[in-house]
Amino acid sequence: MEHSQVAIIGSGLIGRSWAMVFAAGGFKVKLYDIAQQQLTSALESIRKQMKEMEKSGCLKGSSNAEQQFALISVCTDLKAAVEGATFIQECTPENLELKKKIFGQLDLIVGDNVILSSSTSCLLPSKLFAGLKHVKQCIVSHPVNPPYFVPLVEIVPHPETDPSTTERTYALMKKIGQSPVKLNREIEGFVLNRLQYAVISEAWRLVGEGVMSPTDIDLVMSDGLGMRYAFIGPLETMHLNAEGIANYCERYSEGMRLVLNTFGPVPEFSGEIVQKVNQAMSEKIPVVPKVLDARRKWRDECLTGLAKLKTQMKSN
Ligand code: NAI
Repeated sequence: MEHSQVAIIGSGLIGRSWAMVFAAGGFKVKLYDIAQQQLTSALESIRKQMKEMEKSGCLKGSSNAEQQFALISVCTDLKAAVEGATFIQECTPENLELKKKIFGQLDLIVGDNVILSSSTSCLLPSKLFAGLKHVKQCIVSHPVNPPYFVPLVEIVPHPETDPSTTERTYALMKKIGQSPVKLNREIEGFVLNRLQYAVISEAWRLVGEGVMSPTDIDLVMSDGLGMRYAFIGPLETMHLNAEGIANYCERYSEGMRLVLNTFGPVPEFSGEIVQKVNQAMSEKIPVVPKVLDARRKWRDECLTGLAKLKTQMKSN
């Protein structure tokens, strides 16, 4: 069987995860890094994770772990890495100058049909892709960590990105089992982080005002709002919590505005409140690498279970 080919630039946390997602989707993957050691450890960790997931029945895709692993190869030569690729996903550290340099290099060696995509969490496409000859082929595809279990990808075009680049990227993400969403224009924080920061800032203000303890605030999300948000968003929540959106607004808009008008200014995220939140979090999860890693592993297991449940609920 002929496999289409993608290149991943940067083999850290996110690059490895993209490699696994693409391999599960049947793509040949060339993983490029400037550090050979990173590539070696990426391959080791990918093999281990694939085997573990195969054992627990969580491996994505229709082929087995060995077949998927065989689709991934590594490379320290940029030109060789992107040769034959139809899609290039950049996953280097979040540094504008470094990323601009890499896209500048790619701009010189790619043809007119390749999509140049960045995993950046917050750099705006207009800054990232400024001045590139192939800007029409450039796009941000922002994943959520870990992309293997959290499928959302925010697709953010540069003002000059060709609509066909956006459409092709969207279709590709669907094909590999991710859940793409399109931004019609770039905006600071894209959408996921804007929503996330809205929640974080109110949580922070509530701690600062002594309304609730940090651990209880986290429970409000994990045992309250988060239960439904894993399945339906805030707008559908409104729709279902009344007889449709219009009825929700009739019933609750005055109350919502009353509450929203009591929200305070943007927090500084410094000083006493940092200490208060830090103390509460550290009592529960001490800041020791082993403990943090164990908790992250547990979080990923929870996400795996939730991903399974979501698939099952969809097919019911
Ligand atoms: P990382 O630090 O784990 O990996 C970066 C990799 O890039 C390393 O393997 C490094 O050797 C390599 N690298 C450095 N310079 C390079 C160059 N010139 N050419 C090729 N490779 C180079 O970083 P991570 O966490 O994987 O993040 C990558 C990107 O993904 C960032 O833009 C980040 O904002 C974004 N992202 C990260 C998320 C996260 O939770 N970690 C979530 C969503 C997006």
